[in-house]
Amino acid sequence: MQKIYLDNAATTPVDPLVLEAMLPYFSEKFGNPSSIYSYGRETRMAIERARKSIAEMLHTRPGELFFTSGGTESSNTAIHCAVRDLGCQRIITSPIEHHATLHTVEFLKSLGACTVEYVGLTQNGHVDLVELESLLAGGQVKTLVTLMHANNEVGNLLDLNLVGNLCRQYGAVFHSDTVQTIGHYQFNLEQSPVDFLSASAHKFHGPKGSGLLYIRQDVQIKPFIHGGAQERLMRAGTENVAGIVGFASALELATMHHDEDSVYIRSLKSYMQEKLTEAIPDIRFNGDTGEQSLYTVLSAAFPATEKTEMLSINLDMAGICISGGSACSSGAQGGSHVIKGIYPHESRLPIRFSFSKHNTFAEIDIVVSKIKEFL
Ligand SMILES: Cc1ncc(COP(=O)(O)O)c(C=O)c1O
Repeated sequence: MQKIYLDNAATTPVDPLVLEAMLPYFSEKFGNPSSIYSYGRETRMAIERARKSIAEMLHTRPGELFFTSGGTESSNTAIHCAVRDLGCQRIITSPIEHHATLHTVEFLKSLGACTVEYVGLTQNGHVDLVELESLLAGGQVKTLVTLMHANNEVGNLLDLNLVGNLCRQYGAVFHSDTVQTIGHYQFNLEQSPVDFLSASAHKFHGPKGSGLLYIRQDVQIKPFIHGGAQERLMRAGTENVAGIVGFASALELATMHHDEDSVYIRSLKSYMQEKLTEAIPDIRFNGDTGEQSLYTVLSAAFPATEKTEMLSINLDMAGICISGGSACSSGAQGGSHVIKGIYPHESRLPIRFSFSKHNTFAEIDIVVSKIKEFL
């Protein structure tokens, strides 16, 4: 059975060119980057070449980039260090962040290390910026704001510059989970008022287990993982050389093809939205369906019926991979905290379709006709 993969916000296949770039670092170029002889120098150079290349693409300095095991570790590090090392006693976040953020801030709160405040959302799930400003203005203690650039379930985009400037104005530290946007949008970090950013290679055709933490140069934190001197003493442990090379290679490809890929993927998303609207008169879409939305994600809200309850299972049996459905979204027990956060009284069933450069219009036609058939 020919499979159709429309869950690219969960992960993406590694691009063959990325794999080709990574492969030598599993075998012939196997040296420990901390070894001083030639094998080690070779892998050390590969890491620093990757860092330099990523820094150029993101318009930042290599010294501001730290390789990690993924988006989760990057966000954990940024949030923990803001509290531990930068004196943040209060965290402002939103109820619809990724669990890498939410569970970290709740953990720190449970330790008594900080207080946590959740900024409200607008009707379609954007952060209420007026409320954010009043929270910032009313604060008495050093504050960390952690808000994601794009929501992975509904796709809503945050204005990073606007929020970053607000944080600057009120002396707050700003971290953003950019896991769904680095590799899909162009960044100029030199000109972005952000202190920490989290990124992950597997969301843009790089390998899993390879992430990045951006820390602005003037933000001084202490080591997070203790041990060897890797990552300029900040994150000990022998580097994931192949993963780091894969991160850089995936970002190079994404940057090189950004213009055509983003236009193409955006057109897939609007085609799917159009076709679903035609096929299912009662359908709605979650979050912002306009410009302030990730071009890779479309979250549909199907009217709750016995047939829609079975939709994701039926699609799976037809070889179609999507996220969500059944009695809860994204497969999470008890429903999606994102959908609940935006639509507290929602009974509809959310299904997330997320696209990549590998998807085709023909695939979308098949998926929409299957959905129509099942419903
Ligand atoms: C928005 C967002 N943040 C964080 C993560 C976690 O990233 P990783 O899988 O690299 O730990 C994901 C991926 O699931 C995500 O979509």
